[in-house]
Amino acid sequence: MRPFDDIDRIARAEALDRVAAPARDLVNKVLTDRRIADVLHGVPIGHPLHPILAQASFGSFVSAGLLDLVPRTRRPAAALIGVGLLTAVPTAAAGWADYSQAHEEQQRVGIVHAAANITMLAGYVMSLGARLRGRSTRGALWGWAALTVGSAGAALGGHLSYHQALGANHAEDYPHIGPEDWTDAGAVADLPDGEPVERRVGEVRVVVVRRGDEIRALGQRCPHASAPLSDGKVTDVDGDACLECPWHGSVFRLDDGRVMHGPATAPAAPFPARVRDGRVELRVATWPGVPAG
Ligand code: FES
Repeated sequence: MRPFDDIDRIARAEALDRVAAPARDLVNKVLTDRRIADVLHGVPIGHPLHPILAQASFGSFVSAGLLDLVPRTRRPAAALIGVGLLTAVPTAAAGWADYSQAHEEQQRVGIVHAAANITMLAGYVMSLGARLRGRSTRGALWGWAALTVGSAGAALGGHLSYHQALGANHAEDYPHIGPEDWTDAGAVADLPDGEPVERRVGEVRVVVVRRGDEIRALGQRCPHASAPLSDGKVTDVDGDACLECPWHGSVFRLDDGRVMHGPATAPAAPFPARVRDGRVELRVATWPGVPAG
């Protein structure tokens, strides 16, 4: 039995839904401001925010644990624990935002990940308290205990990202598999005005939207969690025609796939379009967000 098989068992443990689902509902109840949610997901930087912040927090804790092994470094170790506790606040906020838009198996692992991290933080509060009372050895012991639990939590976080693809870009492959040359995608006359429809270009599925004479196409798979974008709806954001994902409401600009609202942080794959003899032709843009001419 490989150790990470046990994490798969966590993902299948439906009993965890008794805690995971109410936690998700609570986050969704609290996190109603879309601009704040976008920042917490990482939309402005085009990358999930939680793993970046987690480096600052967990890195501080690991560094403190190492310093505790070195004579006369207990004060800087205490300072690092303070930094770790402070940065844990936005780290947790970003993590809960991502959690609220995850699927059930991810949420089961996510709730155990959160429980481990909360336990770790409680341990570091005890550690810091002991240090402030001058009990540096006791503080170091609390710190190492907290680090042990936190390491298990970090392993679960890695599993969420790399194995369960929470936060991963689910549209990354389009520039590699989409046709580089103009490829037929059906008759213009078959495209309803203002409605997304699924089409195939070569072996690749795309979503095509015609608005009057304008035709735009994106990769069919949502970068957030692979929802079929042709089931979404056309909307308008700041004067730009966009497509809203049917599962968690990410909004992508039709012109270039840019993320206007999360939880997605990676752009949808744009497929530049042209019309020849009443037929739509598409080819993949070589780099998402930069439409080819
Ligand atoms: S699959 Fe989640 S926003 Fe599209």
